[in-house]
Amino acid sequence: MKIGVIGLGTVGKSVLNILSNEKNRLNKEIGDIEVVKICDLKDNGITGYDFTDDYKEIINDPKIDTVVELIGGVKVAYEISKIVLASKKNLVTANKHLLAVYGNELFSLAEENNVKLQYEASIGGGIPVVGPIKENLFLNDFKNIRGILNGTCNYILTKMEEGMSYSKALEDAQNKGYAEADPTFDVKGIDTAHKINLLAHLAWGNLKEFSEISIAGIDTLTKEDIEIAKSKGLRYKLLGEANFDGKELTVRVAPMAVKKDELLYSVNGVYNAVELEGNYTGKTVFYGEGAGGDATATAVISDIYKIKLGG
Ligand code: HSE
Repeated sequence: MKIGVIGLGTVGKSVLNILSNEKNRLNKEIGDIEVVKICDLKDNGITGYDFTDDYKEIINDPKIDTVVELIGGVKVAYEISKIVLASKKNLVTANKHLLAVYGNELFSLAEENNVKLQYEASIGGGIPVVGPIKENLFLNDFKNIRGILNGTCNYILTKMEEGMSYSKALEDAQNKGYAEADPTFDVKGIDTAHKINLLAHLAWGNLKEFSEISIAGIDTLTKEDIEIAKSKGLRYKLLGEANFDGKELTVRVAPMAVKKDELLYSVNGVYNAVELEGNYTGKTVFYGEGAGGDATATAVISDIYKIKLGG
């Protein structure tokens, strides 16, 4: 398998490190994964790879069969993704923004070209959730989905409840590599909206028009709101929720006060959780680290693994 990696930020660097650290194990499990070329606007001092600052060198390289796209934003990522899929290369992406907006077109393009579009890393960082919904729970009619889907916001809310200021907690989350390049996507609930929209697509096969999603972030919450909730045994969590009544899909994001006896109450720090209710399985909950380089990189590599196995 010959891959090209575009985007060498927190997740991209972790992908290269883990592929290198686990080379022997990966070789034994799935065979050789050769990183043919890596790309970013600047090389960030990464050595030992063929580096380019021009992504076209990767997407037009006939040796590369799978492109790993780990850049933020949609404009360039959309161009890259279309060309990659149309030229019959597989695409692995962590870009929830891209898929929440252009998913319908890109999923169809992958199908038409008989290549894989894998996106486990785009929801819930290191938590396996895309694969299990697609492959294990697919027979269910889902009633609803809700989740804590942004590690940065959950980290900030947890730290604020412990007494830290909003700005210090956000700075911490940025230093730990949890936040988006533009953290307003995190705190204003937009990142959560991208992820819950993708989950809705997994459950019911359709994406909501993004402008129709009702979105409120944690930036409207004050320290007093959090203290009052605490005194009542409640905890604010930024939740993404999706419901389908058989006719209409409703998707919304808002900070909501969660009771002590709910599972989501105990999901703290960078941890995320996704709850789904299916007619056969009842309630299923996925829990784990929702952001950060290494956790998210394992999801990217699991997608490479699936492509290699033909899944
Ligand atoms: N900024 C995102 C978060 C990264 O904090 O959850 C993972 O998608």
